[in-house]
Amino acid sequence: MLYKQLLRPILFRLGRGDAEGAHERTVALLAAASRSRLLLGAVERAFAFSHPALARNVFGLRFPNPLGLAAGMDKDGAALPAWAALGFGFVEVGTVTWHAQPGDPRPRLFRLPEREALINRMGFNNAGAAALAARLAAAPALRVPLGISIGKSKATPLEAAVDDYIASLRALFDHAGYFAVNVSSPNTPGLRALQDRAQLGALLAALVVENAQLAAQRGAAPRPLLVKIAPDLSEPALAELLEVCAEHGVSGLIATNTSVGRGGLEGTDPALVAQAGGLSGRPLAARALDVVRFVARETGGRLPIIGVGGILAPDDACRMLDAGATLLQLYTGLVYAGPTLPRRINRALAGRVSIPF
Ligand SMILES: Cc1cc2nc3c(=O)[nH]c(=O)nc-3n(C[C@H](O)[C@H](O)[C@H](O)COP(=O)(O)O)c2cc1C
Repeated sequence: MLYKQLLRPILFRLGRGDAEGAHERTVALLAAASRSRLLLGAVERAFAFSHPALARNVFGLRFPNPLGLAAGMDKDGAALPAWAALGFGFVEVGTVTWHAQPGDPRPRLFRLPEREALINRMGFNNAGAAALAARLAAAPALRVPLGISIGKSKATPLEAAVDDYIASLRALFDHAGYFAVNVSSPNTPGLRALQDRAQLGALLAALVVENAQLAAQRGAAPRPLLVKIAPDLSEPALAELLEVCAEHGVSGLIATNTSVGRGGLEGTDPALVAQAGGLSGRPLAARALDVVRFVARETGGRLPIIGVGGILAPDDACRMLDAGATLLQLYTGLVYAGPTLPRRINRALAGRVSIPF
C-alpha cells in the first residue's frame, strides 16, 4: 500500500524515462545497507518473514524459504546480504559472462506500468566472471543459497560458447551453491540456439565433466547445474530439451526467462510494445505457468523446477507451486509491488495447509 501509493510514484518519477537509473539507485542503496550491520538488522526486522514450514532441501541445498531473487536484478552481486534481509530464501546473481561487457546501448529497460510489465534488452551488462569471483571471495558467506547464472560473452562466437561457459564455471565454482546455465536470454544474438538438442548436449556434457573435475580436485560435491529456459519454446522443443537435460543429469530447470512474445499488451503504447527485448511481469504469468506445468508432467515431478515469471502477489506464487514448481523466483514483482512482496508471499505460503515439495 505504502509502496504502491507513495514510494513507487516517487521512484518512477525520479527515474522518468530512465527505468534503469531507478534500478541502479535501488541496488546502490541496498549495497550500502549491506555494508552496515545495523541497517541490515533493521531491514530484516522490517521485511523478512521466517517460518520453519517454509524451509526445504532441494538438490542438496537447504533453503530457508522457497522464494528467490531472479537473475538480472543484481548481476554483479553488489547487495547480497540485503536481498537475504529482505526475506529472499536464495539469491541468483548474474548472468555473468567470461568477458566483462557493457551490454546494449541505453535506453534498454522499459516500464509498462498499466500492465505491470517490463521489456528489457540489457544484453548481459556485467563486470565479468573473474570480477564476481573476486567480490564473492572477499565477502562474508551468505546465509542463504547463492545461485550463479552464467551465459555467453557477446564477443565469443557461438561455436566457442562451450569454452566461454566453462571459463566462468571454473572461476566461480568455489562460490556457487548452484549454477544456472542461461541459454534463454533473448538479448544475446544466437544464444537461444543453445537450447537445441545438439548444442545443448555438447554444452551440458562439457559442463558436467568440468564440474566433476573441479569437485574432485577439491574433495567437494559437484555443484547442481540448472538450465534456464525460454517461455517461447514449443512443446515438442521443450520435450526434446528435457530429454537432453535428463541425459546429462541436470539437477533442475528454471522456467522461465523473459519472452520475445508480446501477448497481453493489447491497448498499450505501441511504441513501447515495439521495443526489442524480453517481456517480463504480469503478461508472462500464464505462459510461465503453462511451461512449469508441462515440465512437471513430462518429468513426472522428479526434476526440481524453479518457477519464475509474473509472480507479483501471493496468489501468483501459490499458483506457481500448484503448477509443479519446487522453488520460486521473481524480478518484476519487486518493481511493481515493492519490498514487502517477499514477506507477503512467504506469510501466505506458511499459511497454506500443505506446501508441495
Ligand atoms: C531487467 C531484467 C534483466 C534480466 N536479466 C537476466 C539475466 O541476466 N539472466 C537471466 O537468466 N534472466 C534475466 N532476467 C529474467 C528474470 O530473471 C526472469 O526470468 C524474468 O524477468 C521473469 O520473471 P519476472 O516476471 O518475475 O520478472 C532479467 C529480467 C529483467 C526484467
